[in-house]
Amino acid sequence: MIDRKPLNASLTAVKKAFPKAKPKLGMILGSGLSDIADAFKPLGTLSYDKIPGLGKAGVVGHAGRLLWGESAGVETFIFQGRRHYYEGVSWDAVATPLFLLKSLGAKAVFLTNAAGGTNPKWKPGDLMIIEDHINMMGVTPLLGKHDPFWGQRFPDQSFIYDRKLRAALARAGQKAKISLRKGVYFAGTGPTYETPAEIRAWRKLGADAVGMSTVPEAMLANAAGLRVVGLSCITNMAAGILNQPLTHEEVFETSQKAMSNMKKLILQFWKELAKEKI
Ligand code: HPA
Repeated sequence: MIDRKPLNASLTAVKKAFPKAKPKLGMILGSGLSDIADAFKPLGTLSYDKIPGLGKAGVVGHAGRLLWGESAGVETFIFQGRRHYYEGVSWDAVATPLFLLKSLGAKAVFLTNAAGGTNPKWKPGDLMIIEDHINMMGVTPLLGKHDPFWGQRFPDQSFIYDRKLRAALARAGQKAKISLRKGVYFAGTGPTYETPAEIRAWRKLGADAVGMSTVPEAMLANAAGLRVVGLSCITNMAAGILNQPLTHEEVFETSQKAMSNMKKLILQFWKELAKEKI
């Protein structure tokens, strides 16, 4: 269930801090991915402490601030650090970026995450365009009383990840000479990583990448009528593929190694978006 009070208070705070902001796009940066924000010319920043719905981001590698910026002339809100269901913070914090974007007239959101790769042929550092997802969390943020802000009572999910935006991202990859994978993202609640048996099972069910985020945000954005595009940075091989334990340090280090490719890709993608007049 999502409480509108902290969301409305967040909108008031953001409007007060950035009275002239009219973001066309939003971007949510996952674990270790905050530096992607360097691809944008800053117009203003606001710490999550000042945004009631977001509060302090709780994970190492999450900066916890909203950057108002632009690239290729496309005004963008970049959320540097995300809130997760596993923090036990209720859905308000997870929903706040999407609520702000939709309320301020944005048309689309770019979701990024660090993820484990389940395909043994893939390597840490690979980047994957999210084509679709499977929700393994066992919950959804839209449970509870229907709020028309989030669209219909029973939102269609046939086309969550916008086909045109995915094609534009693939094009950006070609132009920037960065090879991109495509696949299905599975989300569990975390904060535990998966067991090797879970990964074997999920692989059979169609997982290419696994993580602890993105899916609730994609569901909310889609329900509210925002176009969605998503990118996973494969930071590690999923549990059991290699004979070694998983650590957050490995996730963080790989994301830093993949950073320059991600920045190049994002710069090119925003140029594609500018051309398409999104
Ligand atoms: N599993 C879940 N979440 C993750 C992983 C993983 O292997 N890597 C980065 N986030």
